[in-house]
Amino acid sequence: MHPTLFMALRTLHLLSMALWVGGPVVAALGARKSLMTGGDVARDRVRWVVSVTPLFVVSALLTVGSGIGLILGLGGLSAVRRSVLVGAALAIAALPVGGVMNQPALMKLKAHFESGGSAGEAAPVITRFLLAHWIEQTLRFAALFLMAVPF
Ligand code: HEM
Repeated sequence: MHPTLFMALRTLHLLSMALWVGGPVVAALGARKSLMTGGDVARDRVRWVVSVTPLFVVSALLTVGSGIGLILGLGGLSAVRRSVLVGAALAIAALPVGGVMNQPALMKLKAHFESGGSAGEAAPVITRFLLAHWIEQTLRFAALFLMAVPF
């Protein structure tokens, strides 16, 4: 692979992973408090999280896509450090957690608060949503550690 293309892929990888790792940290700041307040505060918070979620989905796809490009550029799986491959597997494992656990909980919260439901009734869904968030974050930070530290 041409060195300029490899450098471009690496830059794309670093930019997209920064958004994929850092964005949800910001989105979750104070989320439990806002959601447990209920009413307009919870509804607006959920709407905001829903509105920024596509950014995280795009950054996830760009991270995985550029990561695959980097593997090809380095000469295939056998040419890549094992810790990078483990990190890639952990990062990819975060995708189904988002799709199966996080997103449905978020949609349920949106419907619940938009129909005037109380925070008390939503508590188990809030817990599931935040648990999914922390599982995803743990996987992403583990990937960051494994890729950034040269074992
Ligand atoms: C949360 C997800 C991810 C994070 C935070 C992340 C982070 C990083 C970082 C910081 C580097 C630069 C390492 C260095 O230059 O020393 C890197 C390189 C790399 N990443 Fe990722 N990455 C993620 C996901 C992925 C995925 C899903 C793949 C593969 C499908 C992948 C494949 C690679 C490859 C092949 C390299 C180059 C390794 C090398 O030059 O030795 N990454 N990643």
